[in-house]
Amino acid sequence: MAFYGLGIHEPRRQSRVQAWKEVSGKEIPFINLDVAKDYDLLVQLIKDEQPDSIVHFAEQRAAPYSQKDSKTKRYTVDNNVGGSNNLCCAVIDADVDAHIVHLGTMGVYGYGTSGGEIPEGYIDVVLPGGRESNILHPAYPGSVYHATKCLDAILWQFYQKNDNLRVTDLHQGIVWGTNTPQTVLDERLINRFDYDGDYGTVLNRFLMQGAMDVPLTVYGTGGQTRAFIHVTDTARCIELAINNPPAKGERVEILNQVAETRRVRDIAEMVAEMTGVEANFIPNPRQEAAENELDVANRKFRSLGLDPITLDKGLFEEVTEIVQKYKSRCDPKKILPASFWNKKRAEECASLDPNSIKLKEDVKVEK
Ligand SMILES: NC(=O)c1ccc[n+]([C@@H]2O[C@H](COP(=O)([O-])OP(=O)(O)OC[C@H]3O[C@@H](n4cnc5c(N)ncnc54)[C@H](O)[C@@H]3O)[C@@H](O)[C@H]2O)c1
Repeated sequence: MAFYGLGIHEPRRQSRVQAWKEVSGKEIPFINLDVAKDYDLLVQLIKDEQPDSIVHFAEQRAAPYSQKDSKTKRYTVDNNVGGSNNLCCAVIDADVDAHIVHLGTMGVYGYGTSGGEIPEGYIDVVLPGGRESNILHPAYPGSVYHATKCLDAILWQFYQKNDNLRVTDLHQGIVWGTNTPQTVLDERLINRFDYDGDYGTVLNRFLMQGAMDVPLTVYGTGGQTRAFIHVTDTARCIELAINNPPAKGERVEILNQVAETRRVRDIAEMVAEMTGVEANFIPNPRQEAAENELDVANRKFRSLGLDPITLDKGLFEEVTEIVQKYKSRCDPKKILPASFWNKKRAEECASLDPNSIKLKEDVKVEK
């Protein structure tokens, strides 16, 4: 089986592909195409390669970015939903029985307190008249980005039913950590590390802030409970999903790709304790419940052999080392949130001044 990287961003790809060849002896061909736009090229690629599996990451993947303004909302919907629809059409047009493995999100379930365990994709319900059924868990997105993942889920359902496509949708938690056993083999293989308000994920942001001696940016009361997974387990789960495809004609397989759930202020407390920085409770830029419980089933991955890494201060050190090494690249003005869910949230956050975040004098920032 060939592994292809598809993407619309070229920087670093050449050196990463070269580095991987040097350390593993394996080649990853890279084709630069836009899945949402270059439809004919996509069909041709699938025809040429006859893949067993296609792992679909190619989406605008930041909730804050999707909520910035109407331009980013429209781009996120066009790119994500258009890309997923194109992929289904292309697999059908290429006449290839490829298993699609899609990276979805836990956010499709919403982050209210549901009062019980969130099942893996489907839920038993009793409809009016006492009719018992097992349906896709109701979609309850909290951002345009999350809404696109809900719309994706409807597309998977349709194309599975209509065209017998084989699809696995991975409902992933928030990724933390930087390296996998493969990326540590060569510095050029390092993963991108986002610390800014638009793209950075919460724990990586806290670890970066802790290492930079900047107060931790906790939104609201920090009472939001979220699901987490280490980047190494993300890779492992994708491997498990590829190796355990649904049979032809079977409904869309849905797995909750999470290791554990944690409350944001508890995570802030762990990082604060480890680094000695304070937690700064700032107005919440997001339209969301101030406090929620989250209990998530991940039995399917566990039954496939996943023994997930859980939040461990030992592993925090790995991220902290990376941050120390590259801290000169940090732009402190990007640390506070810069995207607000609606006008009310923007008004509540008006006091946040990006220029107020100062780094210690010993941190030289690259120009
Ligand atoms: N990072 C997380 O915490 C997290 C959590 C849940 C789900 N996910 C999902 O996992 C996937 C990967 O996310 P990531 O965090 O590695 O982000 P990422 O930005 O590194 O990966 C997404 C990649 O898709 C590419 N892409 C976007 N639109 C494309 C298009 N139209 N054609 C071709 N390539 C395109 C981007 O260039 C980028 O390389 C995304 O679908 C994201 O929604 C991520």
